[in-house]
Amino acid sequence: MKGLLQNVLMSAALVGISTGFVGHADAAKPMHPNKILNVAHRGASGHAPEHTLLAYGLGEKMKGDYIEIDLQMTKDGELIAMHDETLDRTTNGTGYVKDYTLSEIKELDAGSWFNEKYPELARKEYVGLKVPTLDEVIQTFGKGSRYYIETKSPEVYPGMEEKLLEVLSKYKLTGSEDSSGKVLIQSFSADSLKIVHELEPEIPLVQLLWYDTPAVITDDELEDYKTYSIGVGMNFDKIDKAYVQKVRQHGLEIHPYTVNEKEHMRTLIDWGVTGIFTNFPDRLQEVLKEKGSK
Ligand code: G3P
Ligand code: CA
Repeated sequence: MKGLLQNVLMSAALVGISTGFVGHADAAKPMHPNKILNVAHRGASGHAPEHTLLAYGLGEKMKGDYIEIDLQMTKDGELIAMHDETLDRTTNGTGYVKDYTLSEIKELDAGSWFNEKYPELARKEYVGLKVPTLDEVIQTFGKGSRYYIETKSPEVYPGMEEKLLEVLSKYKLTGSEDSSGKVLIQSFSADSLKIVHELEPEIPLVQLLWYDTPAVITDDELEDYKTYSIGVGMNFDKIDKAYVQKVRQHGLEIHPYTVNEKEHMRTLIDWGVTGIFTNFPDRLQEVLKEKGSK
């Protein structure tokens, strides 16, 4: 408790705030004051087949704050929850998502691969799980849940951002006071985020980054990200305390991915991160509890 409190107070002092997170310059709304977000990465994907309704439901049960959803788009323009551009790894299909209609993809088994890859975690109810559409995910979990949605390969899918906003609008997850904080949109593509920002400046955005050497981030880069996003997310294994503090000093959120070991979670929390993507939201929940955060 003491460590966390010190950490929160220090972060607040560093960015010159006393309560709440710093919002986007154009969409400044406090989101989750003094809370470290537990993001269920592809659902509770350490326990169940990623990007299935079952994995998302488990993430909610394990007290994830957000359901993380990667988006791909079908040949007939529907948004589905899938990490890869191809069907091969997580279904019994083959080839590119963009070459199949939704009804063709709905024929596939999105759960059996998990049982084969992780026999120790295998369950018969995973057999035959379907690939969900974004629409189905939101319909299932509703406005009581929060969604952290990634536009994957947006250069392959022209119109993906407009379609995403159409679905969010259908479920009243954009443009109203009570939708604030229900949706975060993330992407490695700054162009994709800027399209969303142009169309719906109120939606909080997170710029994803990838480092293959020890991470360095400049003041100019951070100020540029701030023009359209509320934060950054990056692979956790290349950052250090100074990096985290620099991001926070610029008033940006920092949500490293994908953190599955408790020791790493503890270190990142001590450094001052404001959220964590994990395949094991139950583990993160335990760490947050031991630190007195929840
Ligand atoms: O979205 C954060 C993290 O999920 C980015 O990596 O490849 O798992 O989508 P990936
Ligand atoms: Ca992702």
